[in-house]
Amino acid sequence: MQMIGVIGTGFMGSSLATAIRTRHPELPIGIVEKDEARRTAALERLNATDYTGRPGALFSDADIVVVAIKPQDLDTLADAVGSRAGGTTLISVLAGTTTGRIATAFPGAEVVRIMPNLAAEIGRAVIGISFPPDMDEAARRVIRELLSGAGSLVEVPEHLISTVTGLSGSGIAFVFEFIDALAMGAVAEGLPYAKALPAAIDVVSSAAEVLTHQGVHPQEMVSRVCSPAGTTIAGIRALHEGGFRSAVMDAVERAADRSRELES
Ligand SMILES: NC(=O)c1ccc[n+]([C@@H]2O[C@H](COP(=O)([O-])OP(=O)(O)OC[C@H]3O[C@@H](n4cnc5c(N)ncnc54)[C@H](OP(=O)(O)O)[C@@H]3O)[C@@H](O)[C@H]2O)c1
Repeated sequence: MQMIGVIGTGFMGSSLATAIRTRHPELPIGIVEKDEARRTAALERLNATDYTGRPGALFSDADIVVVAIKPQDLDTLADAVGSRAGGTTLISVLAGTTTGRIATAFPGAEVVRIMPNLAAEIGRAVIGISFPPDMDEAARRVIRELLSGAGSLVEVPEHLISTVTGLSGSGIAFVFEFIDALAMGAVAEGLPYAKALPAAIDVVSSAAEVLTHQGVHPQEMVSRVCSPAGTTIAGIRALHEGGFRSAVMDAVERAADRSRELES
């Protein structure tokens, strides 16, 4: 690969660029960033070349350009790039913005859409990714490899990107809510929050690790913990009475609905 471009080095652009730089110390990276302080920091951290004010040149020089600006800034960027996006692969991070809209704004670019979540910052994002149907396997492999340092990929056709937004983009916040509620339950029982919170975080991360390592269905693990007439089944009944499962399922659906609404 010749060069990777990153346009917009705010929270998401810099998280992805840092993950790429960590994996590929030798790969030339060019950046475009309006904000001077962010630009200076990114240039130094990424050992990158500054293309600010010359986004069209970045499209000409780079094989792949990650666009991580806010959707409302898209048209200004497209005007500045003009016809120079042709032949470049553009990875769009823009929420609520279809590949059709990006392809119209950047004629001739091959558009890949991704939807990372907040954990990109620590290289553990769950990233929804939608490739153009006609993109060949070798090109897909390059992009998978490029993004792999930022987290894990969930490949979906574009109409399911909103579903992944509900599952992981928004879903990470549902998990934060659960962790806080778990800790607050212990507070109600008399444990100080300062002790309850780290314990609740450990419960959630160890539960996730158990599922990952053992590869079993979550309900099998639930039944393993539930001894007859024991404590866990009493708590599980309380969750069912409170509508826990349907509340979580509704949360994912509601977030996905909202994402589709924003797109239309
Ligand atoms: N944050 C998340 O967790 C998350 C998750 C999934 C998807 N996304 C998507 O990622 C994109 C970026 O989000 P973010 O949270 O990283 O936003 P952000 O922190 O505001 O970063 C965007 C950066 O791009 C700069 N910029 C805007 N227009 C530009 C242009 N024409 N040329 C060069 N730089 C330009 C902005 O500068 P100014 O501030 O000066 O305008 C800002 O520094 C959004 O489209 C969002 O939908 C974000």
